[in-house]
Amino acid sequence: MAQTPLHTNAGAESVRTSDNQLLCCKSIDKLIAEANEPGHTLKKTLGPWSLTALGIGAIIGSGIFVLTGTAAAGEFFQAPSILHAQVLDLIVNLLRGGGTANVLMHGRPPAGPSIALSFLVVAIACSFAGLCYAELASMIPIAGSAYTYSYATLGEIFAWIIGWDLILEYVVSNVAVAIGFSAYTKAQLASFGLNLPDQWSTPVWEAGHWTGSYFNVPGFLIIFILTVLLVRGVRESAEANNVMVAIKIGAIVVFLVVGGMLVNPQNWRPFAPSGFAGVVTGGAIVFFTYIGFDSVSTAAEESKNPQRDLPIGIIGSLIICTVLYVGVSIVLLGMMKYTTFISGEAAMAPVAYALTVLGASRFSRSVIVVGALTGMISSLLVFQYGQARIWYAMSRDGLFPRLFSAVHPRFKTPHWSTWIAGFAVGIPSGIFAISDAADLCNIGTLFAFALVSLGVIILRRTQPGRQRGFRVPFVPWFPLISIVLCGGLMTGLTVITWLRFVVWLVVGLMIYFFYSRHRSEFAKK
Ligand code: ALA
Repeated sequence: MAQTPLHTNAGAESVRTSDNQLLCCKSIDKLIAEANEPGHTLKKTLGPWSLTALGIGAIIGSGIFVLTGTAAAGEFFQAPSILHAQVLDLIVNLLRGGGTANVLMHGRPPAGPSIALSFLVVAIACSFAGLCYAELASMIPIAGSAYTYSYATLGEIFAWIIGWDLILEYVVSNVAVAIGFSAYTKAQLASFGLNLPDQWSTPVWEAGHWTGSYFNVPGFLIIFILTVLLVRGVRESAEANNVMVAIKIGAIVVFLVVGGMLVNPQNWRPFAPSGFAGVVTGGAIVFFTYIGFDSVSTAAEESKNPQRDLPIGIIGSLIICTVLYVGVSIVLLGMMKYTTFISGEAAMAPVAYALTVLGASRFSRSVIVVGALTGMISSLLVFQYGQARIWYAMSRDGLFPRLFSAVHPRFKTPHWSTWIAGFAVGIPSGIFAISDAADLCNIGTLFAFALVSLGVIILRRTQPGRQRGFRVPFVPWFPLISIVLCGGLMTGLTVITWLRFVVWLVVGLMIYFFYSRHRSEFAKK
């Protein structure tokens, strides 16, 4: 996997590409020159299989093991509030002239077994966005993320918005994965007769109220341990990733076999209790389970043949995960009625719950749960690593305080960024419930995908001559489809999630205008 070079720009000449600082771009040639400095060139070793494994490694975390149940069961709040309405519902009612009166305000409608369709729809949306990522990544063939690509192509303000937004993708998604890890650890220990006290192993704040719990310790603990390892320079190699991928897929396949024998077809009826609305709202939640496929594009620089292999890696990993996800959802919702997963342990660790209640052997159950936990750890590691590197890059560019790019004298890792990322993930995962974290992460990531897709259209016009290792076919149509599908999924999220997202962006823009703008290399001295 890409090793971000830890070096500094100090002293390098900055060339302003626009009179307006907001639209200034970093020089691609300078970025490439930096990446080609002796000792910083990455080996071109990754072929289509390794890239696909890279994608699967980042994609499969805890989402499939947790959110499938809750997305199928829906959510119900006693006190009605417009905050719990889907934006899609709101728009439909407003268009029909019904105002906000008829909007379902008690929560989100259950997708039921039709969540399997949601997985398919979301995979299609991700494929289009993935191709756009691949084009942007191959234009700037250096290891990085959407932040670096947009700084080099779209301008500083876009880079800031995407970098700020990526915190939702990396930090908040890891909060959600850590919460899922905690639930499955608790369930697994319980099967050995070791019952963790609820007050120290469940969320403190859930569905808009305090639960009486004090802190969700296992979630915090795993992040703390991984942070210590990352600061010391431990990270997953391509080989370790392949092993992790095999374990994750193995756990899911064992579940499909063991769970498949416990299916009662009656549970598949009704298939779509909320019709199309259920499929969209379910999709907006399970979108989370696909997050991570974009990491394939970050390996552009190490890919042997980016034009052919990047799309294979992205689409290949999406197809394999889709098959596994659809399989898990069909089996899980055939094992128990979707309404079972509305709350309690059934909502927090649905796979472990269904296997226990239906009497699967402790051995097969442990193989599945321990395999799932191992997969979650590897996904947590990749995202914690990624977040620290993005902050490192933003700090090197002056947009974040210098502290974030400080490098540990002995371990040569960005230790401050890594520790800050550790606490930024660890503390919320000790407090919040997975659904709130996943929703916020989804809206941020969908927005970033839409911006990246828009970026492809803009750059085809503004920089038509620039070399592209990979070109999205049918521009502007494919990027437009990506924008429409990502936007459509965003409308499946609730009003409260949109409000949180808007607040997040406003805070980000304030930081930019009051702080970062004055410290950027393009600031007028
Ligand atoms: N896609 C990752 C997961 O499902 C974030 O956990």
